[in-house]
Amino acid sequence: MAFSLLLLVCSLMAGASAGNFHQDFQITWGEGRAQILENGQLLTLSLDKASGSGFQSKNEYLFGKIDMQLKLVPGNSAGTVTAYYLSSQGPTHDEIDFEFLGNLSGDPYTLHTNVFGLGKGNREMQFHLWFDPTNDFHTYSILWNPKHIIFMVDDVPIRDFKNMESRGVAFPRNQPMRIYSSLWNADDWATQGGRVKTDWTNAPFTASYRNFHADACIWSSGASNCPAKKSSTASTNSDWWNQELDSTSQERMRWVQKNYMIYDYCTDL
Ligand SMILES: *[C@@H]1O[C@H](CO)[C@@H](O)[C@H](O)[C@H]1NC(C)=O
Repeated sequence: MAFSLLLLVCSLMAGASAGNFHQDFQITWGEGRAQILENGQLLTLSLDKASGSGFQSKNEYLFGKIDMQLKLVPGNSAGTVTAYYLSSQGPTHDEIDFEFLGNLSGDPYTLHTNVFGLGKGNREMQFHLWFDPTNDFHTYSILWNPKHIIFMVDDVPIRDFKNMESRGVAFPRNQPMRIYSSLWNADDWATQGGRVKTDWTNAPFTASYRNFHADACIWSSGASNCPAKKSSTASTNSDWWNQELDSTSQERMRWVQKNYMIYDYCTDL
């Protein structure tokens, strides 16, 4: 109880941060394969036959609106997986996932999404995209508040995971999470069910990141610095705390799900 009260402690420290990769992230895997470039404005991960690479955020977050621009491995990216996700630690961890599964040149990437609550996942939804995610940077966002986890691509909502704790479904809301990303090889399952293998003559494979922006509650010393909760009037910076999809956004999400969703755990019997 004391612990959950602590979670509610708010401070006036600002939680918004506009990206510098040196300041916000650390490279955790892959030696020279991961690089922070252009004075912290660009981060690249690469994968070769020996290893992939990865990074994680220095901060932990408990709720927020988190945006990152990604440009995925171009050309024949079959067998590669670029994961970009939030996760807490331990066996009953929470997790919010974007995973990009590569494909042969000309065949669409699959964007895989999932939510884990208290260690339990199996809530996958998968999509193709309405653009080529390797041609340019696109913005992938997670809006996470106590009632919704909304996945967005270029501000278009593709998935709204609602808090259904009243029906016994665990919802991530007590465990602070870090942001993680990695590029690795998974050609045993990733592309067309594992039938298409990685063509290593195309290596190294590279994915790029820029314009990280977190308008989020930052976890520090056992408490959450969360200005958004205090503001009852929705300012542009903090309206994510109360945000849910309005009818226009719902319509856009329905358009995506109708035309681009290729798997939904809800309808998988
Ligand atoms: C790759 O392309 C095939 C054929 O269009 C498609 O069925 C599949 O969903 C795509 N994605 C992956 C990861 O296999």
